Amino acid sequence: MSIQIAPSILSADFANLERDLHAIDNADLVHVDVMDHHFVPNLTLGEPIVKRICEVTDLPVDVHLMIEDPDRWAPEFAKLGASSISFHMGATHAPVRLARQLRAMGVKACYAVRPAESVEPIFDILEEFDMILIMTVEPGFGGQKFLANQMSKTRRLRDEIKRRGLDTHIQVDGGVSPSTAHVVAEAGADVLVAGSAVYGSPNQAQAIDDIRNLAQA
Ligand code: DX5
Ligand code: ZN
Repeated sequence: MSIQIAPSILSADFANLERDLHAIDNADLVHVDVMDHHFVPNLTLGEPIVKRICEVTDLPVDVHLMIEDPDRWAPEFAKLGASSISFHMGATHAPVRLARQLRAMGVKACYAVRPAESVEPIFDILEEFDMILIMTVEPGFGGQKFLANQMSKTRRLRDEIKRRGLDTHIQVDGGVSPSTAHVVAEAGADVLVAGSAVYGSPNQAQAIDDIRNLAQA
């Protein structure tokens, strides 16, 4: 399975965003965390900045919505040029309707689960999604400690995807670094988000290569 690395710009320098977007040219996606001070206790950025990111980067833009009422707001983000949009199980009212709406707009639909949420409820609607996002920290902040207890859930989801012959991606977000890359890939994740491990490194391109190589080792 080929591994994709998605640096999270949450740990970038927001005053030098264009520079920091170009520093990750060897990544596969750029992960953009949108927070609203309601679904999570942090506030980041909204539509105007996501729009500029989509214009400035050559990478596919993966928007992670940590906001209330994604049923209302996700389609607005889909209009801005994002390649994929994740919305949270605990925030959406009609995940199937929203996933279909995003796909109809040409955007990949991704469903995100927090550490205390199970993946089994998703099994009945798995075909509706291009990717499932498993949080390996409580959403809200970069630089938190990786929750290894999320790996059994990741394995169960990968087994189900394989059993049904689907090509659904599994994204893991939170505490991914060179030291956890192998564990998450071995559990079945193929899209690895890394914020502090990339932007906290003096050489971002090297950090991306290190995470990719260790995941594939
Ligand atoms: C946290 C965000 C993550 C965050 C990850 O709520 O969803 O994408 O940027 O940061 P690290 O990789 O530092 O844990
Ligand atoms: Zn994220």
